[in-house]
Amino acid sequence: MLTTKQKTLRAFWYPTVRLDDLASGPQPFRLMGEDIVLFLTPDGRPAALEDRCCHRTAKLSKGWCDGNLLVCGYHGWAFERDGTLARIPQFDPEAPFPKHRVKSFHAAARYGYLWVALEDPIAPIFEIPEDGAEGFRRIFQFYESWNTAPLRLMENSFDNAHFAFVHAGTFGDIKQPKPRVYEIEETGYGFKATTVVDILNPPPAHAVTGTTEPITTRSMVNHWYLPFARRMDMTYPSGIRHIIINVATPVEDGRIQLIQLLYRNDREEDCSTEKLIAWDATIVHEDRDILESTSPDAILDVRRRIEAHMPSDRPGLIMRRRLLELLQAHGEEEVTLDYGAAR
Ligand code: FES
Ligand SMILES: [Fe+2]
Repeated sequence: MLTTKQKTLRAFWYPTVRLDDLASGPQPFRLMGEDIVLFLTPDGRPAALEDRCCHRTAKLSKGWCDGNLLVCGYHGWAFERDGTLARIPQFDPEAPFPKHRVKSFHAAARYGYLWVALEDPIAPIFEIPEDGAEGFRRIFQFYESWNTAPLRLMENSFDNAHFAFVHAGTFGDIKQPKPRVYEIEETGYGFKATTVVDILNPPPAHAVTGTTEPITTRSMVNHWYLPFARRMDMTYPSGIRHIIINVATPVEDGRIQLIQLLYRNDREEDCSTEKLIAWDATIVHEDRDILESTSPDAILDVRRRIEAHMPSDRPGLIMRRRLLELLQAHGEEEVTLDYGAAR
C-alpha cells in the first residue's frame, strides 16, 4: 500500500516535529508527500501551512515568525495561522488589499509534538492517560527517519515471533522461537492485544526491568490505533510500567518518521533517561535494520498469506483487513500494492 496514494490516510492526525524545536521559528516537514511548514504563535497556538509562498513560490519555512504571522523570507509577505495573506510590504496602501491565502491544515499541540491532519480528521488523537499524570515521567526516546513503510513498523510492533531472531542480541531467546499468542479484541480505533512474554534479563537491563532475576516477564496490554500508532504497555513483576508509544508518521512512500515516547512510573534516580534511551536504542535499531531490508510497502492481501496459519501473525493480518475496510468504507476502490497486482 502506497500511503501517499490512499487519500483516506490524509484524514488522520500524525505527530510531526517537537514543539520545543519550534521555539526558534518555523520548521519544514514532509507529510504524505506534502511539503508543509509548521510554526507556533507567541501564545503557543500551532499552525501548519503548505510550504510554498503564493507570491513567487519560495519555501515559507525559510522565513520567520513575527507575532502571530509567518513571514516569507523572499519579499516579506506575511500569513496568518489559517493561511490568509495579511501583509504585503510593497503593496500600495491606497489599493484594496487582495484576498489571498495559502493552504492550511489542521494542527494540534499534544504530548510535546505538533500533530497535523491534512484533511478533516476522521478520528481523534488517541489518549495517553499517563501524559502529565502524577507518578509518570515522559521521555522523548526517538525521532528518526527510516526507509520503510508505516504498516511494516506496525505489523512488526505486534509480531512477537521476531524477538527470538532479530533481538537475539538483547532480550530475545533463540531457544524460544514460538511465542505465546496475543489475545486480540477489535475496537473502533483498531484493537487491544494482551499477552505475556518471557524475556532474558541481562545485567544492563536490571534497572529497566526493576529486577535482577535472569529471566523475567512482560505482561503486555497493547493497543493499535488506526492507521499507524501503537501503545505498548508493559508491566514487569517489579511493578515497573514501561509504556512505549510509537507512531510511524508517513513522510512519503517508503519513508517514515519514527516517533517514540516512553512513559515510566519510576524516577530518574531509579533508571536514568540516558540509560532508558540507550537500552531501547539497541533494540529499536535491531528492528530498523531488518525493517529497512523489507520491501517498503506492505500488501493488504488478507486471503492468501501463509501467515494465516501462524497465530503470531494474526495481528498483522487484522491490521491489513482493517485498513482495507477503512479505505473501502471511504470509497477508495483502488488500493495500491507493492507487488503491482490488484488483490
Ligand atoms: S516569494 Fe514569498 S514574498 Fe515573494
Ligand atoms: Fe522488535
